[in-house]
Amino acid sequence: MKIKNICCIGAGYVGGPTMAVIAQKCPQVKVTVVDINEHRINAWNNKDLSKLPVYEPGLDKVVEEARGRNLFFSTQVDQAIDEADMIFISVNTPTKTYGKGKGMAADLKYIELCARQIARVATTDKIVVEKSTLPVRTASAIKSILDNTSNDNKVKFQILSNPEFLAEGTAVTDLLNPDRVLIGGDNTTSEGKEAIAALVNIYADWVPKQRILTTNVWSSELSKLTANAFLAQRVSSINSLSELCEKTEADVNEVAKAIGMDSRIGSKFLKASVGFGGSCFQKDILNLVYIAKTYGLEEVADYWEQVIIMNDHQKRRFAHNIISTLFNTVSGKKIAFLGWAFKKDTNDTRESAAIYVADELLSEQSQISVYDPKVNAEQMYTDLDYLNTRSAEETRNGLLVNQDPYEACKDAHAIAILTEWDEFKTYDWQKIYDQMQKPAFLFDGRGILDIPPLEEIGFVCYKIGSSNKNL
Ligand code: NAD
Ligand code: UDX
Repeated sequence: MKIKNICCIGAGYVGGPTMAVIAQKCPQVKVTVVDINEHRINAWNNKDLSKLPVYEPGLDKVVEEARGRNLFFSTQVDQAIDEADMIFISVNTPTKTYGKGKGMAADLKYIELCARQIARVATTDKIVVEKSTLPVRTASAIKSILDNTSNDNKVKFQILSNPEFLAEGTAVTDLLNPDRVLIGGDNTTSEGKEAIAALVNIYADWVPKQRILTTNVWSSELSKLTANAFLAQRVSSINSLSELCEKTEADVNEVAKAIGMDSRIGSKFLKASVGFGGSCFQKDILNLVYIAKTYGLEEVADYWEQVIIMNDHQKRRFAHNIISTLFNTVSGKKIAFLGWAFKKDTNDTRESAAIYVADELLSEQSQISVYDPKVNAEQMYTDLDYLNTRSAEETRNGLLVNQDPYEACKDAHAIAILTEWDEFKTYDWQKIYDQMQKPAFLFDGRGILDIPPLEEIGFVCYKIGSSNKNL
């Protein structure tokens, strides 16, 4: 079966880049990305490619090549569903904020809405692909909704799970050259096998066949949660040791290098930090914990929950360290933040450690000034307002946003590095030092700066995972 027409519901950080790459690599397939958020769709259609709603290195080029040729962004959801042979569901699946499973379970209301809409609109057979990250066994719920609410009894649906493993900041290269593509489907029936083959064929246009892995639906769904849990666990593991390093004069970067050279451990994802952020890790682990609890597996749930507990501790201890180092009070003191995004090369701020560190410091009446090369002020205020710790007015009085890093750091008592943007390494640190209050403190939450030259300038430095006798 040859797919001619793809629809993707959800034009976010996953739907947008993923479909842009599919369209670029499969010019014979028409790809329509739809969203109910008109503002977002308009941004995807903006002639000025620097205004796309998602910033990812290289994405502008991919969109430029395919948009208007075989890649379209639209709010006409029904029409795109009806025309498509294959429908990707790539909507958000946030942690529930209400009711049963509040604060843990994935909120599947957007997924269910999509399934009901597909069932209502479809007049021809559809392959429905789960691109969103979903709890294991969601495919059976989607299938049940599709089969029981379809307007047309003759329409047949096949459900596939095709989780996305791209990381933000490297989305385009990850999509062009994935470690693997995972496709789960019903491999017990000929229709199921045909659907799996149809999706394999799409990816096979640019991904080597041996990297396209097919499994049953449940393994595929669970593998996505598992992959994120393992990755986050590595960060929490090294972060837990960063605290021990600070007490013992061991250096966490040296420890990471030493253990990472063991090929059984591997060197990636061992960078100590102020804590992991991003829209996925916390949400997916909480979801895993919730699923384990649902099956009565308390030890399994506790085991994975510890990854989150460690991460919360890491963010909090970074903020508390700033307060105690600044002579136990930051009230009225200006603290400059370099970076707000949850990692470099993205404008995404979801669950960024910067939000939580700022929240702690604002509660201590500190004055924060932030510079981030890609995040705007409105986003930062939205992030803090969402925590509901203080009034919108108090937040805006307590946190100012600067377009210029030197201005952000001027007259500051301390600088905190919250994101590992490369440009921070190239700054004129002498100039920054000269314009700061003294002693000039520098807290490197990402371990990106070379500390001895900064100490020579006069900074008093803290680097995550290293001890400093001057502090
Ligand atoms: P996002 O919030 O950026 O985008 C989701 C989009 O879906 C939004 O624009 C929203 O308006 C739209 N939407 C919601 N309901 C809709 C509906 N009924 N009809 C049409 N549009 C609708 O989210 P995201 O970061 O792209 O994540 C999407 C999914 O992919 C999540 O399940 C996430 O866990 C998973 N995922 C994310 C990443 C990542 O790096 N962000 C990586 C892998 C997997
Ligand atoms: C993650 C997964 O990597 C990706 O496969 C999945 O599809 C979505 O979730 P993402 O959240 O975009 O991707 O970025 P990632 O590179 O995994 O970083 C997540 C967080 O961990 C960031 O805050 C990052 O700074 C932090 N991190 C990562 C560390 O602190 N140390 C590390 O060694 C690696």
